[in-house]
Amino acid sequence: MRGRFITFEGPEGSGKSTHVQLLADRLKAEGRKVLVTREPGGTCLAEKIRSLVREELDDPPVTRSEVLLFLAARAQVVSQVIRPALARGEWVLCDRFADSTFAYQGYGRGIDVGLLRNFNDFATEGLMPDLTILLDVPLEVSRVRLAERQAATSTAADRIEQAGVMFHRRLREGFLELAKADPARFAVIDSSGSRESVADAVHAAVGRLVDGTGIGGKSR
Ligand code: TMP
Repeated sequence: MRGRFITFEGPEGSGKSTHVQLLADRLKAEGRKVLVTREPGGTCLAEKIRSLVREELDDPPVTRSEVLLFLAARAQVVSQVIRPALARGEWVLCDRFADSTFAYQGYGRGIDVGLLRNFNDFATEGLMPDLTILLDVPLEVSRVRLAERQAATSTAADRIEQAGVMFHRRLREGFLELAKADPARFAVIDSSGSRESVADAVHAAVGRLVDGTGIGGKSR
């Protein structure tokens, strides 16, 4: 049986990393082979790009460079990690993917989303997820969670997290618009509830993908 490709999207502080891990644990307990990866990252080169785009540099990337860096990282992880795992029949869970580019660089930074889709197709050779879980959370909640995380880990906000409130507002609206335009692929889950209730909602969305009653079915 062919593998499935599931991506998690949402702003910082929406709980993506937690829920990727919780879903991976559940799927493994059901006997599925699961591979967890993240974007940018997942390969040696892509992890280096991750550090580069998040760092405070004296000469931070201009927006076009930022797009190309994210896409370079994506091309690597798709060809070296994601496609091989899907070909082995594994379930691939990815923390962020193409929709982050459309939301952050498109809606957030103002680059034409149609153009970004074409560039993204080049980087991925047309690979899109079977299911995208959008963890939606009001701005106030994600800001509080982010501040708590930074305090707990003694880290400062990175370059992108520091972008202003208007940027983050456009981002959330962008994610919701992307989901509205492709309801067959997206499951939008309110992530302001308890960890358990959100994990159950994520698992239920995946269940609909498995039994074919709702979400998924994008061809590759
Ligand atoms: P995170 O996955 O820990 O949230 O960090 C990744 C950061 O990179 C986050 O601020 C979102 C940003 N990002 C983009 O701006 N565009 C992209 O295409 C991707 C994958 C991430």
